[in-house]
Amino acid sequence: ARLMSLIPSVTPKLIRHGSTSLQSNKVKKVAVLGASGGIGQPLSLLLKLSPMISNLSLYDIQHAKGVGADVSHIETRVKVKAYVGNDELADALKGMDLVLIPAGVPRKSGMTRDDLFITNATIVADLVSACAKNCPRAIIAIIANPVNSTVPIASEIMKAYNVYDEKKIIGVTTLDVLRAATFVAEAKGLDSTRVFVPVICGHSGNTIIPLLSQISPPVPFSQPELDSLTYRIRNAGTEVVEAKAGAGCATLSMAHAAARFSFSILDALNGKAGTIECGYIASPETEFKYFATPLLLGRNGVEKSIGLGNLSEYETKLIEQAKHELNANIEKGIDFAKQYL
Ligand code: NAI
Repeated sequence: ARLMSLIPSVTPKLIRHGSTSLQSNKVKKVAVLGASGGIGQPLSLLLKLSPMISNLSLYDIQHAKGVGADVSHIETRVKVKAYVGNDELADALKGMDLVLIPAGVPRKSGMTRDDLFITNATIVADLVSACAKNCPRAIIAIIANPVNSTVPIASEIMKAYNVYDEKKIIGVTTLDVLRAATFVAEAKGLDSTRVFVPVICGHSGNTIIPLLSQISPPVPFSQPELDSLTYRIRNAGTEVVEAKAGAGCATLSMAHAAARFSFSILDALNGKAGTIECGYIASPETEFKYFATPLLLGRNGVEKSIGLGNLSEYETKLIEQAKHELNANIEKGIDFAKQYL
């Protein structure tokens, strides 16, 4: 029952034809870095439809002007500006409230998220350095994989510029939450839009831990069901990578996930109470330096972690099994940042 009241709004708050007038004090400025990519393009489209956004800044190292021109013809009020290449990065970031980072290379068949490390670590470090200089107060939402490492990298960069705020750097794990709801609803004959499964720990392999004992509405699972659902949720990204057969990773579902996450952040920045999304953040008070949990969002970003609730024996075991991988991913990110700086 407690979690029921915490279910984030699943329906994106898209503008409707003839919708109400714009509240200028509540609209925010949002940047997408990597806007021309498989995720960046549909994400830019979804953000252009939001009445909560005044300005949309689309940045990429290629093709952003085309994406910007295209999206800007949609008749919503969001003002779109496109920026290409490093020389235009600072202007893309100035004044932003929220910066989304889907820039980077995606997985191909047979690759793990960690295989992306060197390329994406450098991209994220470069982009976050620019955020530190140009929009140090913005919320930074990291989509680029491996999220378990890129979030620690982003944090170390912000620390080095003396602008670190742990409430403002969040790894986006929303897609795991959506997949969990979809697969559980399918397996149990439920309405997927009413299902909420907290997903904790991290965003790769064994570090993706759905808390099926805390599903809302409460549903019992047999051990084989727990095993097969946990397996499917963890491997859903690979399911898409293989089905696309060389043409990329999850982009459409990820764009929706990132848009939903963004709308929740913007709601919370505007003072909407009780806004919850899962996300991967610094967790200095736990035994892990970074960890994903359901988060209460607020006017400054993450208000607090909702914590883990009552874990089942099975879930406690899954965390135990994930420990080594998660800590190794985190340390790899921190070590990279030290060398980069
Ligand atoms: P993509 O290759 O289609 O697009 C990436 C875009 O980033 C390209 O337009 C590229 O030009 C741009 N880019 C590269 N370097 C850049 C830089 N320095 N500055 C700005 N833009 C730059 O890849 P896709 O499919 O959009 O995936 C992007 C990232 O998102 C990957 O790292 C992928 O692993 C990750 N991802 C994360 C998920 C999550 O749940 N957090 C889910 C799915 C993908």
